[in-house]
Amino acid sequence: MGSHAENGNGVKVVKVSETEEEVFEPSDLTEIENGKPGYDNRTLPPDWKFGVKLQNVMEESIYKYMLETFTRHREHEASKELWERTWKLTQRGEMMKLPDQVQFLRLMVKMSGAKKALEIGVFTGYSLLNIALALPSDGKVVAVDPGEDPKFGWPCFVKAGVADKVEIKQTTGLEYLDSVVEKGEKDCFDFAFVDADKVNYVNYHPRLMKLVRVGGVIIYDDTLWFGLVGGKDPHNLLKNDYMRTSLEGIKAINAMVANDPNLEVATVFMGYGVTVCYRTA
Ligand SMILES: C[S@@+](CC[C@H](N)C(=O)[O-])C[C@H]1O[C@@H](n2cnc3c(N)ncnc32)[C@H](O)[C@@H]1O
Repeated sequence: MGSHAENGNGVKVVKVSETEEEVFEPSDLTEIENGKPGYDNRTLPPDWKFGVKLQNVMEESIYKYMLETFTRHREHEASKELWERTWKLTQRGEMMKLPDQVQFLRLMVKMSGAKKALEIGVFTGYSLLNIALALPSDGKVVAVDPGEDPKFGWPCFVKAGVADKVEIKQTTGLEYLDSVVEKGEKDCFDFAFVDADKVNYVNYHPRLMKLVRVGGVIIYDDTLWFGLVGGKDPHNLLKNDYMRTSLEGIKAINAMVANDPNLEVATVFMGYGVTVCYRTA
């Protein structure tokens, strides 16, 4: 755990796997802003960036009220910075969670008294940063993603003072979970947030039921999948194979947790749907 270190130049690096000694080079946001390959400056929509995610599911004025009243003034500056930079520079900002969702995650982490957390699906680390912020000073979060995007967010983790709490595994969710199960571990996490490949949520669940302790919390994101679970598709999103197979994956995990006698479950109408599972047995 805690596989980050100061190198000779005083910059943070992070080890990405237990087996390889590979380290992320320091992800210098200035360098990226100046045109690092793979990161293009995007033109920010002039008006309402959070609305991009919500156009199918929530009326904008209500969401604005909610953010202004409950959320934005409570968000850490490093978290706001990470969101803005990801939105501006990566072209894939839509993958990030929304500010009210990460506020909800912080609340869940605190209410569950979690010390050891897991995230599957990191991207640049917006939800991860907020999980880390909510953990106690001796808490840890293992973050799993096969991509290289987590390094983009790392400077904001350092700014927020939570780098020590985070361990990034550059691998798939299934590979990571299987590696932990194979070691014979169980009940080793208090909290898990899953925001990755929707088709595998049903494969993650039985593994997580071994690894998240009784009394722990598992949260699945996107469980209303762009509102498509309701059967309407006004923007023809289901023409896209990924959207279609993901919808099937989402329906499968929803049926699985909704009928799991060892869970208490509730779905919150937030983002594209957030399902909270509390392990009772
Ligand atoms: C929606 S994004 C995560 C967004 C992130 N939680 C945030 O708040 O910014 C989904 C992420 O899942 C990752 N992913 C895709 N397939 C995966 C897999 N098999 N295991 C783990 N992560 C995966 C992608 O690389 C991507 O970074």
